[in-house]
Amino acid sequence: MLKWLRNFAALFTGKPAAALLHELPETIRLLFARRSCRSFNDEPLLDEEIHAILEAGRFAPSTVNLQTWTFITFTRQQWHGTFDRPIPFKGCYAIIICADIFRLKNFLPDLQETPFVNLSLGIFNAGLAAMSMTMAAEAFGISSIMLSETGRAGLLDCAFLKEKLALPESVLPLTTLVLGRGGRRLPGIPPRQPREAVIMPAAYDRQASSHLGSWYEQMFIGYKLTHPLSSFEKQIAHYRTKMVQAEVVIRDIFLAGRKSRG
Ligand SMILES: Cc1cc2nc3c(=O)[nH]c(=O)nc-3n(C[C@H](O)[C@H](O)[C@H](O)COP(=O)(O)O)c2cc1C
Repeated sequence: MLKWLRNFAALFTGKPAAALLHELPETIRLLFARRSCRSFNDEPLLDEEIHAILEAGRFAPSTVNLQTWTFITFTRQQWHGTFDRPIPFKGCYAIIICADIFRLKNFLPDLQETPFVNLSLGIFNAGLAAMSMTMAAEAFGISSIMLSETGRAGLLDCAFLKEKLALPESVLPLTTLVLGRGGRRLPGIPPRQPREAVIMPAAYDRQASSHLGSWYEQMFIGYKLTHPLSSFEKQIAHYRTKMVQAEVVIRDIFLAGRKSRG
């Protein structure tokens, strides 16, 4: 019981261990201040802000500077017109971030689709662009969330998104970045795995999972608090079904590349 109480309290007190510095540089302060936001108000975003956020994505680093991403942008009206419902969490603007080597193939025929190309160039680079845009938004005081499941807006519904947006075969929708001015925010920070489980000086620690007990319990407690009618286990089981479906699409992309090479 004492352990449970300690983990309950940790949900509201956990924070980055950055006490080594008196004053954090602004960028680091923003990195720690960012939270996924699940409730947006109606205050609009400025065109200039949206423009700068998208430019932050376009200027993200990428393998061999190949910029293997596409950002499909939506105002509230455009999202409604496409999906017949509001942007998840009533966001103000949405960007579907895709891993994309489609437009490069005419120029670089050697860029065949293999797990390396799709994962390293495609998915990894698009992930960097996603985080650049997230942090650019944060710098404007704009809140955000990336989605892979909620509202059928990410990788777990990639078959649905590919069809709805008529995406070419090798374009993989990864996540929707929802932007808006933040409304209500839950207290606390979703628990992070402890430093000793994640940061491994000089050698890999195969026993790292032995450090995860408290984190795991905090995930359970936190999930119950925010979703009283569900549980962390149920949510993972729900993901499992959708993952199996998403995997079919991803495998198709890999196999299409293999087939085209004969
Ligand atoms: C790629 C990606 C997909 C995510 N998908 C969802 C989602 O579908 N629904 C949701 O509520 N949160 C989603 N999240 C938010 C995570 O739950 C959140 O990042 C995590 O709990 C840590 O909390 P924080 O972002 O506030 O630090 C996603 C985050 C990422 C990076």
